[in-house]
Amino acid sequence: MKATAIANANIALIKYWGKRDENLFLPQNSSISLTTDCLSVKTTVEFSSRNKKDILILNNRNYPLNSKEYKKYLKPFLNKIRKLAGTKRKIKIVSQSNLPKGAGLASSAAGFAALTAAVNEALGLGLNKREMSILARQGSGSACRSIYGGFVEWQRGKKDDGSDSFALQIAPADYWPDIRMVICLTSIKEKKVSSREGMAQTVKTSPFYPCWLKTIDKDIKSAKRAIKNRDISLLGKVSEENCLKMHALMITTKPGIIYWNEKTIALIHKTRELRERGLKCYFTIDAGPQVKILCEKKDLKELIKGIKKVSGIKNVIIARPGPGVKISKNHLF
Ligand code: DP6
Repeated sequence: MKATAIANANIALIKYWGKRDENLFLPQNSSISLTTDCLSVKTTVEFSSRNKKDILILNNRNYPLNSKEYKKYLKPFLNKIRKLAGTKRKIKIVSQSNLPKGAGLASSAAGFAALTAAVNEALGLGLNKREMSILARQGSGSACRSIYGGFVEWQRGKKDDGSDSFALQIAPADYWPDIRMVICLTSIKEKKVSSREGMAQTVKTSPFYPCWLKTIDKDIKSAKRAIKNRDISLLGKVSEENCLKMHALMITTKPGIIYWNEKTIALIHKTRELRERGLKCYFTIDAGPQVKILCEKKDLKELIKGIKKVSGIKNVIIARPGPGVKISKNHLF
């Protein structure tokens, strides 16, 4: 009844922004991501009749049962799991991560992927990867992609019950060993509007939303072709365009959501300036102010040199393609 899993964050290249079913976390569109090798979450869970209530400890901090984290994000997911497993037992969850929470660095994706795999092991649910991805999706949509390593597609699916909305691996981590994602932290403050609230508001109020949906399939096709051919120019171009389109949706939501700060904008310009000078580098930004720059290993040195010229960057993390979720024998408690 006790198990531990490790999952890595994934960064979307073609973004998920909008649900068609908020209860089942069914997306309006398919998305594509790269699972990283360094932004990880390790989670140990134990279901026990000794636990009088659920216990949640994240990075050594105890989250009470009246916290937003538990009530809004975790409790509905745990209840789904208990129903699936036919148990009433309470769970103890201890989780350690090296990601800043709520800053647009996919902490929930890695968190729910690790939790799903740990629960699957602890309760002996026997779910395969596809089934785990369907379950993880219902904790946080993007978590379904962190079940797999390398390049991953989350297929939108068509069915109302969500049984065809899961992630699939496009290419494993070692398919394109030279690709890098340079993650520039511009702020570690927690964001004001969560992805969940933001995307729900966008679907309801952005006049651009129908246009977004019309162009997604083309972006997915281009990104898949680029990955297949290891074509950094094409992958970077389509990712950057798709990111700007998503931010246009956010900005035209009512009230407008602006996740960028002045350093985010400075990095956008810096990336483009370096590109004009011949460097193949392309940015992507999620629901937060951090800028992730896609490039290849050979251009890394020049890129970092350029980024360092932008003042106020808190930290730079260089990510490579990483593995999918894994079970570990080393428990956290
Ligand atoms: C901008 O997966 O965090 O990072 O499903 O409501 O938990 P919920 O949202 P979440 O949204 C991620 C949004 C994004 C784009 C992406 O990862 O595809």
